[in-house]
Amino acid sequence: MNKNILCIGAGYVGGPTMAMIASKCPDYRVTVVDINPQRIAAWNSDNLPIYEPGLDDLIRATRGKNLFFSTDVEEAIRENDIIFVSVNTPTKTFGAGAGMAADLQYWEKTARQILENADSSKIVIEKSTLPVRTALAMERILNSQANGISFDVLSNPEFLAEGSAIWDMENPDRVLIGSRETDRGREARNAIVEIYARWIPRERILTTNIWSSELSKLVANAFLAQRISSINTISALCEKTEADVAEVARAVGMDSRIGAKFLNASVGFGGSCFKKDILNLVYLCRFYGLEEVADYWERVVGINVYQQERFIMSMLTAMFNTLAGKRICLLGFAFKANTGDTRESPAIFIARRLAEEHAEVVISDPKALGNARLDLAGIDGAFHYVEDPYEAAKGCHALAVMTEWDLYSSLDYEKIFAQMDKPAFIFDGRNILDHKRCFEIGFNVYPIGKPPLTHFEA
Ligand code: NAD
Ligand code: UGA
Repeated sequence: MNKNILCIGAGYVGGPTMAMIASKCPDYRVTVVDINPQRIAAWNSDNLPIYEPGLDDLIRATRGKNLFFSTDVEEAIRENDIIFVSVNTPTKTFGAGAGMAADLQYWEKTARQILENADSSKIVIEKSTLPVRTALAMERILNSQANGISFDVLSNPEFLAEGSAIWDMENPDRVLIGSRETDRGREARNAIVEIYARWIPRERILTTNIWSSELSKLVANAFLAQRISSINTISALCEKTEADVAEVARAVGMDSRIGAKFLNASVGFGGSCFKKDILNLVYLCRFYGLEEVADYWERVVGINVYQQERFIMSMLTAMFNTLAGKRICLLGFAFKANTGDTRESPAIFIARRLAEEHAEVVISDPKALGNARLDLAGIDGAFHYVEDPYEAAKGCHALAVMTEWDLYSSLDYEKIFAQMDKPAFIFDGRNILDHKRCFEIGFNVYPIGKPPLTHFEA
């Protein structure tokens, strides 16, 4: 087998993962292709299509040496025998399963394109997140022609988180590779293990049957999101009882059986995958007649909507039951810090709901204003986009922290307070500010899951 690797799909996963493989395996030639020419042009420029700490350096070190970005999908299929597929698998918006099931059309088109252009046997690796048993459909499509060429389908889901993608890929908790338990399947799997073993200790490279691998990816995201929804339900109870959700999370998380991570109460989780993957899991459970199981997981998404709506209602009631005509500054629009990605960001929901209340919304973010404009383009309302947080906050009645960017915890809130309308409010959707200090400056402060600090008489 030659040492050529192809990845179809040059998105948040395809670009960074292949850059990492290229950097760790200098003897492999890695090609990334996409049907979107603007995206490929951006990968070939100094202005990469995504923001991710450390990515610029990684691309600079590999691009043009053993990492190449191209739009020539067909030629690339002919030239490569190991093909990762990292195309998007969004929630279906039409027909059966609309709003729940994964839309597999991009994956299937890719499989057919591989079949049409392959003139030698290939290993095809699912890097995209897919419903369990997708590999079976892929095998049936790929092996549908009696032309002497064979295809082995593997599952190698990606666990990186945006904002820390480079670190996550360099130091993964595990790499998961699923295959058929046949000699051919195991042989194909070993070829992929060999790539990751260049920098990842063998004991962290987990090999399983292909269905376990596909399902584990959905389950990992469901468990992570479930923790956030769990702590967010407790934040609601804390607000009623004067308990402090951060203290509760700390006390609970110190139990090593529970663990401390992913217990930060927030305005809600965002990102392109948690909601989509849980809904996909729910759809699968219903498909297999497991209604109770489906209902259980569906509540994780339901609680996330509840938490965002709760945040809006807290703003509305705190600000004297009307937001009409009030100017509200959203600090952050990305779905988490250190990314420009806004897919499913709670900030979209909050901005839309504020507009429905006839508030004027000023949006600030160091990396996500371009995406924010696109997200809100079709929505009726007064939206302003101002990168400098001091300028953005000027003349506002309230600040609402949407994203946990470090920069927001070190702003000069005295200066900001002086230029705001009074009484001035802070709604900290990420619990990252020094609430006591902000209160002392004069703000009325509403954290998540902690008693508010206000200057009003009870
Ligand atoms: P993305 O939308 O950023 O990128 C997907 C790319 O695939 C797009 O550029 C699109 O143009 C391209 N594409 C679609 N059809 C194609 C075709 N037929 N030929 C060539 N290119 C095609 O998506 P993403 O965020 O990179 O996610 C990809 C997959 O990885 C999804 O299944 C997602 O669930 C999963 N995943 C994402 C993350 C993440 O952090 N974003 C993490 C783990 C797993
Ligand atoms: C998540 C998973 O963490 C990755 O393992 C997975 O590969 C990826 O989804 C995927 O499949 O796409 P990502 O969505 O990039 O990664 O980022 P996370 O760090 O998981 O954060 C998701 C959301 O939860 C963010 O909005 C974040 O602010 C929020 N969050 C996270 C909380 O509200 N509280 C927490 O304690 C942690």
